[in-house]
Amino acid sequence: MSTPPRSGSPGFTSAGFDGAGFEPASFEPAGLQGPRFEGVRREHRVTARSLAARKRRGERFSMLTAYDYPFARVFDAAGIDVLLVGDSLANVVQGLETTLPVTLDEIVYHTRMVARGARRALVVADMPFGSYQTSADDAVRAAVRLVKEGGAHAVKLEGGARRAEAIAAIVAAEVPVMGHVGLTPQSIHAMGGYRVQGRSDAGRARVRADALAVQEAGAFAVVLEGMPSGLAREITSELAIPTIGIGAGADCDGQVLVMHDMLGLNDAGTPSFVKQYASLGLLAGQAARAFAAEVADGKFPGPEHSYR
Ligand code: KIV
Repeated sequence: MSTPPRSGSPGFTSAGFDGAGFEPASFEPAGLQGPRFEGVRREHRVTARSLAARKRRGERFSMLTAYDYPFARVFDAAGIDVLLVGDSLANVVQGLETTLPVTLDEIVYHTRMVARGARRALVVADMPFGSYQTSADDAVRAAVRLVKEGGAHAVKLEGGARRAEAIAAIVAAEVPVMGHVGLTPQSIHAMGGYRVQGRSDAGRARVRADALAVQEAGAFAVVLEGMPSGLAREITSELAIPTIGIGAGADCDGQVLVMHDMLGLNDAGTPSFVKQYASLGLLAGQAARAFAAEVADGKFPGPEHSYR
């Protein structure tokens, strides 16, 4: 007797998970050429380089956080360009107040699941607090783990001028780096809370200098978080590398949202810069209540859900 298929097995094709109807735009081929790759399907992977080309062409791109295989599959098939295994996993998955306690092992574990589900999207793993602030050597070691064990294509780290050495060292170790300036949640204690950055003249100058330092250190893109939209616009036009905004207005080269915020899965409430595109928390609650009621009434399982 064969084992019944599990609906959660990799490769399953229930509605919405098989990429049907998704037309990839023009992306640089991943370069599967030569006799070694004969018969291998040619994928058009988004890369650090192809994002730079998009900026030059004036094409915007999207990034969402993802923390596991099923959502990585859904977002990848939907055409999301970059999947970020954010340290926001502390808040939205682990139920913690800040991102500070997340460990490198935890990010590696979640990155592995996301990388398995991403066929086209660029997978970026967040470097957790403490994994890169201590020294450039520690930063390289942590970044290499995220690529080697997690399967990430790139890493992201927070901070500007003060992190230039770490960024340069990781890039020299052949790992593409995404910077992150403005409101940097790992600096919550130093900033005195989650505050919009760059409102004063001095603050503006600091955020601009940080963004420039990140580019000069070799980062391929930079997240601009929690800053006035005018400042994000200026930085975006000054930098050659793409900017990705969150709470930074409409003029960045790309936009990122935390998946739980945009899908309505966050019971902690959503900040004003978030647009909620679905109410999955409500839907899941309705489904769970219907299941519990049918179990109580003896309606589930019916004959069609039972083996003879
Ligand atoms: O951890 C995260 O989700 C992030 C995004 C908000 C950019 O850093």
